[in-house]
Amino acid sequence: MTARLPPLTRRKSDARVRGAARHALVPARLDQALIARAKVEWESAVDSVPELICLLDAQRRVVRINRSVERWGFSPLRAALGLNMHRILHPHCSGRRCVLNRGLKELWSTLPDHGRATLHLEDPTLGKVLAFEGQRIGLPGDRASLQTKSYALLVVSDVTELTRTQEELRLLNERLEGRVRERTLELEQSNDALREEIRRRELAEAALFASRNELRNLSIQLMRAQEIERKRIARELHDSVGQSLSAIKYTLEHTVQLVLKPTLGDAMSRLSQAVDQVQRLIGEVRSISADLRPKVLDDLGVASAVRGFCRQWAEVYQDIQLTVHVSVEDDDVPEALRTIIFRTVQEALNNIAKHAAASHAWVTIHRQDGELAVEIADDGSGFSGGARLSGTRTGLGLRGLRERARHSGGRLHVDSEPGKGTRLRIAWSVQDPSAAQGQVA
Ligand SMILES: Nc1ncnc2c1ncn2[C@@H]1O[C@H](COP(=O)(O)OP(=O)(O)OP(=O)(O)O)[C@@H](O)[C@H]1O
Ligand SMILES: [Mg+2]
Ligand SMILES: [Zn+2]
Repeated sequence: MTARLPPLTRRKSDARVRGAARHALVPARLDQALIARAKVEWESAVDSVPELICLLDAQRRVVRINRSVERWGFSPLRAALGLNMHRILHPHCSGRRCVLNRGLKELWSTLPDHGRATLHLEDPTLGKVLAFEGQRIGLPGDRASLQTKSYALLVVSDVTELTRTQEELRLLNERLEGRVRERTLELEQSNDALREEIRRRELAEAALFASRNELRNLSIQLMRAQEIERKRIARELHDSVGQSLSAIKYTLEHTVQLVLKPTLGDAMSRLSQAVDQVQRLIGEVRSISADLRPKVLDDLGVASAVRGFCRQWAEVYQDIQLTVHVSVEDDDVPEALRTIIFRTVQEALNNIAKHAAASHAWVTIHRQDGELAVEIADDGSGFSGGARLSGTRTGLGLRGLRERARHSGGRLHVDSEPGKGTRLRIAWSVQDPSAAQGQVA
């Protein structure tokens, strides 16, 4: 700060002038001391900041500079005066093709217009990132403009660390964002997989529910069928065995009468009549039992049982020509499959007799490439929706076969179309019979 002294003029009397001068001398000395103190305070404040601060004249030369020029390792403070900033920072640089030199010139060129300019550059010579902030001083209305030759204030900050940290932060951020993107993608994918899994389970649940329902219906129908079968057996026993036994009892009672009173007739002929009746009854019991389960199935095996059944069937249904081709032997068929194979042939042939109105039927059992297959076909009327065995059909036969096939590890395939006959096939994959008898793969 500069104090304004009152102007010395000779217009007033000497006494008044001397008095005024005496009066002004003391405050002037005081002001000098204050100014000096303020200068020191101000300079030491400016010296203590980490930035390089300097005042430049209109020719870009340093007029004043703070101690940072020494702390930063450039020239001693006094030697810096009069130099331009490029010369201070790059003492050995010619300035040609120097980014710092070019940058500083550009910064300088924008100062008169804008009063303020900034520059941020990475200086390969110093290996630092520097930030320059120029501020024009001495503009009209500026207090310092009159007395000083200072043209601009330049503040230089070393932002190497800051820039490095910012760059690290940016990279970190980028990496983080990348990780977030990756993770989001992973989450989306696993979400998709989860949704798919839920959908699959829902489908499986629905299928399970449907098959449980069907199974329940089937077991209800099975119980009904069992009841009907029991009634049939009871009736058969009553009608045939019961009647025959009554007849035998009557004949034997009559024979007893004849033995007691031989005059009434010939007991011997009555007895032989009873023997005939018993013989007939044995035949009837055998046929009922064979109907329930053919003995040959357990005694010999399924091939013999199927051949026997086909023979009987062909005798009964003589207008249907039956071709039987059983190329397996009894021992070729695992024990676990005997009953189902026999029941399949029985059910399919009975269906042909009941529904098909066929003129030709075929039964084939063969074993090939580790597969055992039973096939029954006809050239009859056929039916629609055969492959689905939909629940609308009330018959138990085919659905029972499908359940049996499923439980024994096989698969039932029904191929039928109205007017095109029917082909029914069940196949199982089986191991080598010599390796493991009775095993179903
Ligand atoms: N070989 C065939 N030719 C024509 N239609 C058939 C044949 N086999 C089955 N069907 C049709 O499929 C239906 C279902 O057969 P399925 O054996 O399941 O029952 P069903 O024979 O009617 O009764 P059940 O077998 O319980 O005594 C039959 O009612 C019939 O309409
Ligand atoms: Mg049937
Ligand atoms: Zn340079």
